[in-house]
Amino acid sequence: MKTILLAVQTVNGIFSVDRNSITSWSSKEDKVYYKRITKESGAVIMGRITFETLKEPLRDRLNIVMTRNPEKYDSKGNVLFTDMSPKDLISYLSDKGFGEVVISGGQTVNTLFLNSNLVDEIHLSIEPKIFYGKINMFSENVREKSLTFERCEKSGNNIFLIYEVKK
Ligand SMILES: NC(=O)c1ccc[n+]([C@@H]2O[C@H](COP(=O)([O-])OP(=O)(O)OC[C@H]3O[C@@H](n4cnc5c(N)ncnc54)[C@H](OP(=O)(O)O)[C@@H]3O)[C@@H](O)[C@H]2O)c1
Repeated sequence: MKTILLAVQTVNGIFSVDRNSITSWSSKEDKVYYKRITKESGAVIMGRITFETLKEPLRDRLNIVMTRNPEKYDSKGNVLFTDMSPKDLISYLSDKGFGEVVISGGQTVNTLFLNSNLVDEIHLSIEPKIFYGKINMFSENVREKSLTFERCEKSGNNIFLIYEVKK
């Protein structure tokens, strides 16, 4: 199972203005890239807070929403609320036949998977914008990692940096 952490940030490294704000500032090119990578994998893991910033669940993809209170929510159709650990979640998806999964934020869930050594690749979209924001793509308790640059892609004014995470 390959795990891809996919995120967009500004040129000054901002991932989100604040915890409850939506990623309304990313370009069409970023959204096209997001759709391509998540559709290729078919399964997207995100935190409950990020899920609530979406207008609707991602279509044609399994939306796996991490929450400590899955009983409070209604898992149906392509949305699964779960409190499985990152390791158990990856095994579950592998058993379901997925060969790839995208980890799609937010800060808490990104940090949880990286610290669990469960991120194989990071795809970082650089949005050609600068503004002030409080949220980084990882929290203060992120463990140090080294990455290997794999390749980059360009679309419009966005670049997409693809790194492999050294284990
Ligand atoms: N720029 C980007 O690419 C991008 C992408 C995604 C999100 N974002 C931004 O990221 C921000 C949200 O990040 P966030 O860190 O506040 O929230 P988050 O990671 O989206 O969700 C956090 C929630 O996940 C659940 N959770 C956390 N650890 C868990 C565990 N071990 N087991 C089960 N569930 C667990 C909890 O849900 P419960 O409270 O229900 O228990 C927790 O409140 C937003 O501003 C959003 O716009 C940016």
